[in-house]
Amino acid sequence: MRFDHFTNLKILLMLSCFVHVGTSLDTISSSKFLKDPETLRSNDGLFKLGFFTPTDSTFSYLGIWYDMAKPQVVWVANRDHPLQNSSSGILKIYEDGNLVVINEQNQILWSTNVSNIAASNSTTAQLQNSGNLVLQENTSGSMIWQSFQHPCDTLLQQMKLTVNKTNGEKMELSSWRSPQDPSIGEFFASLNRLSVPEVFIWRGEQPYWRSGPWNGQIFLGIPDMNTVYLHGFILGGQDEGEDSYYITYTYPNKSDVLIYVLSPKGILHEVYWDYEMSNWLESWSSQNSMCDVYGMCGAFGSCDPSSSPICSCLRGFEPMNEEEWNKQNWTSGCVRKEPLQCERVTNGTESGKSDGFLKIQNTKVPDFTQRLPFVDDDCRTKCLENCSCIAYAYDSYINCMWWTSNLIDMQRFSNGGTDLYIRVSYSELDEKKKNTTVIVTITVIVGTILIVACAYILWKRTTTIQEKTNQEIQKRNQINSLSKAKLKEVSQYKFEKLAIATNNFHLSNKLGEGGFGPVYKGTLEDGQEIAVKRLSRASGQGLEEFMNEVIVISKLQHLNLVRLLGCCTDGDEKILIYEYMPNRSLDAYMFDPVGKVLGWEKRFKILEGIARGLLYLHRDSRLRIIHRDLKLSNILLDEELNPKISDFGMARIFGRSEDAANTNRVVGT
Ligand SMILES: *[C@@H]1O[C@H](CO)[C@@H](O)[C@H](O)[C@H]1NC(C)=O
Ligand SMILES: *[C@@H]1O[C@H](CO)[C@@H](O)[C@H](O)[C@H]1NC(C)=O
Ligand SMILES: *[C@@H]1O[C@H](CO)[C@@H](O)[C@H](O)[C@H]1NC(C)=O
Ligand SMILES: *[C@@H]1O[C@H](CO)[C@@H](O)[C@H](O)[C@H]1NC(C)=O
Ligand SMILES: *[C@@H]1O[C@H](CO)[C@@H](O)[C@H](O)[C@H]1NC(C)=O
Ligand SMILES: *[C@@H]1O[C@H](CO)[C@@H](O)[C@H](O)[C@H]1NC(C)=O
Ligand SMILES: *[C@@H]1O[C@H](CO)[C@@H](O)[C@H](O)[C@H]1NC(C)=O
Ligand SMILES: *[C@@H]1O[C@H](CO)[C@@H](O)[C@H](O)[C@H]1NC(C)=O
Ligand SMILES: *[C@@H]1O[C@H](CO)[C@@H](O)[C@H](O)[C@H]1NC(C)=O
Repeated sequence: MRFDHFTNLKILLMLSCFVHVGTSLDTISSSKFLKDPETLRSNDGLFKLGFFTPTDSTFSYLGIWYDMAKPQVVWVANRDHPLQNSSSGILKIYEDGNLVVINEQNQILWSTNVSNIAASNSTTAQLQNSGNLVLQENTSGSMIWQSFQHPCDTLLQQMKLTVNKTNGEKMELSSWRSPQDPSIGEFFASLNRLSVPEVFIWRGEQPYWRSGPWNGQIFLGIPDMNTVYLHGFILGGQDEGEDSYYITYTYPNKSDVLIYVLSPKGILHEVYWDYEMSNWLESWSSQNSMCDVYGMCGAFGSCDPSSSPICSCLRGFEPMNEEEWNKQNWTSGCVRKEPLQCERVTNGTESGKSDGFLKIQNTKVPDFTQRLPFVDDDCRTKCLENCSCIAYAYDSYINCMWWTSNLIDMQRFSNGGTDLYIRVSYSELDEKKKNTTVIVTITVIVGTILIVACAYILWKRTTTIQEKTNQEIQKRNQINSLSKAKLKEVSQYKFEKLAIATNNFHLSNKLGEGGFGPVYKGTLEDGQEIAVKRLSRASGQGLEEFMNEVIVISKLQHLNLVRLLGCCTDGDEKILIYEYMPNRSLDAYMFDPVGKVLGWEKRFKILEGIARGLLYLHRDSRLRIIHRDLKLSNILLDEELNPKISDFGMARIFGRSEDAANTNRVVGT
């Protein structure tokens, strides 16, 4: 993440406009209207609603802004119908129950435009603490209209950018035309490619930027987005029952201010309010180089911002139009040098050696991803069998990703990204032809040595492998019987109680997402705060990890290990209940642009605590535990910033006397 100065995208408001007149409340009703220069103020004082005039403009608009020393407009009502010549506007509830903006001549410039409001003489509008302007029926309290469903250029916390599954209707962010002009500009941002959702920025009808597919935690095309805890992004609606897809985020500390703004130039900026510097700073933006422009290098071209020229054809491909390509016009892209065997067979020309895959590392995967249910190696074999599959990649959450059309919008990252496998003909794979003699000699020598070595190892192994598997099975059985017994020892919680405590596992209670399932904050009837980890039904390995965690953690007691309060196994539900850690995890301190800086003394105390916890696990406890997934997000901090190691899903129990063991699964960080 970069920490640049955030040069104000927008205007600074003319503060002098905002003279308080009377008390500013957060509600408008049929008997109380708002007249420029009055303002409404959200209950917690973070947001204001009122009329503003951009600098260098004579028009004024009704908007909502963050009420900081440098106000930041987050929503505008009458974007396309401004008030002219400093005519002062009025915001009021109209006869038909709608909220309207009228000018001095009583013309309606903007309306919430909801038809057939039943209780039209008793609607009220309220500016909520989230920054949402809500029109509701006074008596029933039911919501008729809300500004969160009519976004402008800013995505606020808790706002959902949705796509209706039935009619495909999309909610979009739309940029301002210019920093002085809030009317609808050239750029839009929305959720697209819904089988594996991505965020897109569009310039009119043309894609301008894409985030890469969502893998449950991050967007694959944004390598800096490495800690879910910080951004709290959720991509919802992928279950059957829900009627729309949506993306939303909540920042862990509610009083932190962090927003996403689509600038008039089509760049999505993540900006936050720095209380100490009293300014808006940028912590991320969607465009760091030309490579972030969609399809910069055309089909089968890959973009690397650190090389010159930035575009190159994938291996096995050459520029479609050499002349243009050399003039750095990359739009026409690249074409395959050698036809695939697949194609030759279908054309009936010849068969030959079958195609293979070239691996390209650290890649932003191309657009038009297809999602297939194959796991692991099946992804590769199935792709090889099907001639329309020209590339694949694998992600443990999405499973198999395939591409069948031109590969477009690839980028090479210096770290992060995905391994992409592209299909090429056999001859492209075989690069060794040239130095045949040398290679043959080397191969023969190396081969002989290898064969001898292999034979030896095989002989050694077969004698021990039987013992090993027997041991493994024994251990597994042990764990199974142990786990049944253990579950009885751990105190059990009723599912209903947990549902009530977490407000029915409400999104706003969600603290984060572990590999194993989401974690929620809850408050029990007696006021005790708890953290609730709910095994997601989709996660296949989860059950094993759940049992593992119960066993491991119920055996252990140490100041620097998180405490398990109990669990819940009710039908399909598998839930763990822990003590709640108000200061969350260490990564929030290390990577959080908004976070507080820890002093050296505190850091030392934290390090010492972690070391004590580990020492206990490794040496001083009754079981010997290897955690195997120790990372910042698994170090939780209590109210005094004492570190507590958590998440024992991957941990492994060793016998007291064992000091080495083999494992058949690669785990952890
Ligand atoms: C605003 O002012 C301009 C010039 O001062 C004038 O031409 C225009 O008619 C005015 N518009 C309105 C709505 O009064
Ligand atoms: C209000 O809705 C009607 C039809 O639903 C539409 O024709 C009209 O343009 C809308 N007005 C505004 C100001 O959006
Ligand atoms: C709303 O209008 C109806 C009929 O016009 C009237 O009977 C009722 O008293 C009104 N309610 C309020 C709160 O003004
Ligand atoms: C709406 O409700 C509030 C309090 O519930 C009340 O003070 C206000 O008069 C009501 N307004 C209308 C128009 O009924
Ligand atoms: C989605 O569209 C359908 C059909 O137009 C509509 O009935 C439904 O209410 C919409 N859902 C949402 C959440 O807007
Ligand atoms: C949240 O942020 C505010 C303002 O930066 C700070 O005062 C408060 O202590 C923070 N709360 C937590 C739990 O970190
Ligand atoms: C790049 O090439 C395309 C056709 O391949 C052409 O339409 C376009 O005008 C060229 N762009 C420039 C800047 O020369
Ligand atoms: C195979 O046939 C199609 C159409 O018949 C042709 O476009 C393509 O170039 C052929 N491919 C090869 C490798 O001959
Ligand atoms: C090959 O893959 C495409 C796209 O995924 C699919 O439509 C087609 O049915 C597959 N063909 C075979 C023979 O599996």
